[in-house]
Amino acid sequence: MQYNFNEKIDRRNNHSAKWSEMDRNFISNDLWPMWIADMDLKTAPEVTKAIERKASEGIFGYVYRPDGYYRSAKEWCKDRFSWDIDVENLIHTPGVVPGISLMIRLFTKPGDKVMIQTPVYYPFSNVVKKNGRKLVTSSLLRDKDGHYTMDFEDFEKKAKDPEVKFFILCNPHNPVGRSWKREELAKIGKICLENNVRIISDEIWRDLVMPGHTHTPMASISKEIEDITITCFSAAKTFNLAGLQAAFLHFPRLEEREVLDTELGILDIKRNNPYAIVAAEAAFTQCHSWVDQLVEHINGNMDYLVEYVSKNLPRVRVQKPEATYLVWLDFKDYGLGKEKLSKLMQEKGKIALDDGFWFGVEGEGFERINVACPRQMLEEGMRRISKAVESL
Ligand SMILES: Cc1ncc(COP(=O)(O)O)c(C=O)c1O
Repeated sequence: MQYNFNEKIDRRNNHSAKWSEMDRNFISNDLWPMWIADMDLKTAPEVTKAIERKASEGIFGYVYRPDGYYRSAKEWCKDRFSWDIDVENLIHTPGVVPGISLMIRLFTKPGDKVMIQTPVYYPFSNVVKKNGRKLVTSSLLRDKDGHYTMDFEDFEKKAKDPEVKFFILCNPHNPVGRSWKREELAKIGKICLENNVRIISDEIWRDLVMPGHTHTPMASISKEIEDITITCFSAAKTFNLAGLQAAFLHFPRLEEREVLDTELGILDIKRNNPYAIVAAEAAFTQCHSWVDQLVEHINGNMDYLVEYVSKNLPRVRVQKPEATYLVWLDFKDYGLGKEKLSKLMQEKGKIALDDGFWFGVEGEGFERINVACPRQMLEEGMRRISKAVESL
């Protein structure tokens, strides 16, 4: 079956945070919404059907998660990433970020240090700091073409600090779009093993890897690395289901499970909503072809954007991402301060983008654009960026 990813979408009456809560971060709600990482694309029809079937039952009381739910997640990991996991190791959380926050609260003490690689998805630094832990950053290295790599030397130096207890890995990486290679993961994993640093591997973007690249789960590198790694994943990004609020933690340390179960019980967040269960199960069992076609669509949008930039915005630097649906645009050549660049996009371009500095100081002078949308919406976004830049 051929799916259509170019259907015109208008989410103004959809209670969409992306479309109708822009004024929390930007000058108004009238901007062209190309920020926040959710898609202006409908989920797979198979997922919608599963939700409609559930809705037609008309009863939405307390639910349990059937074996098939966990089995579907396991099979997806095996089929798509050759990662053979044990369903016993899967734990539900209401989202990846709540899962990361929970791990930090349970398995570190106030004042302990947690390392991240910046620029990176900004809730990482928030969950560390707001939980009273100390943030350690290791900047990614960027070459003259805009390709990012890990700074192993710097990372190792910082990992040697015995107060560094956890490292939050973004695999693949938002916003720089790297799909980390097995060798890179093995090297960083070895440093963590040698220095008793545990890893939280956020793999929410794992399905959206562009042709020519492959996703490697951190925990699949070796048994030793699996033991120190908690992997977070969900159907949220891939199937546009973030609003259903369900995610998995792959947590292999059975001896610590009791601590986790007790905490989930105290917070009473052990259950999820009935829609999340049927949606994820349908996604993971019936939607391989839909995801393949989605990746093709995103890849096409990325190609379009890169070509558009090279023809129309020669002072903007961009590298086609290896993964995610987010593109990291470098406006540093214009020499604008971070506030000026942000204002330029909003006031002159009438477009909402994620400002680069939200992701760390390394992001100053960058903007992140979301290309998970119909082509037409991206074309309009690029016209607006051009208009902003031409006004200078
Ligand atoms: C790297 C990363 N992790 C987690 C999330 C959000 O996950 P959740 O909504 O399940 O908390 C995002 C959303 O953009 C993300 O980019």
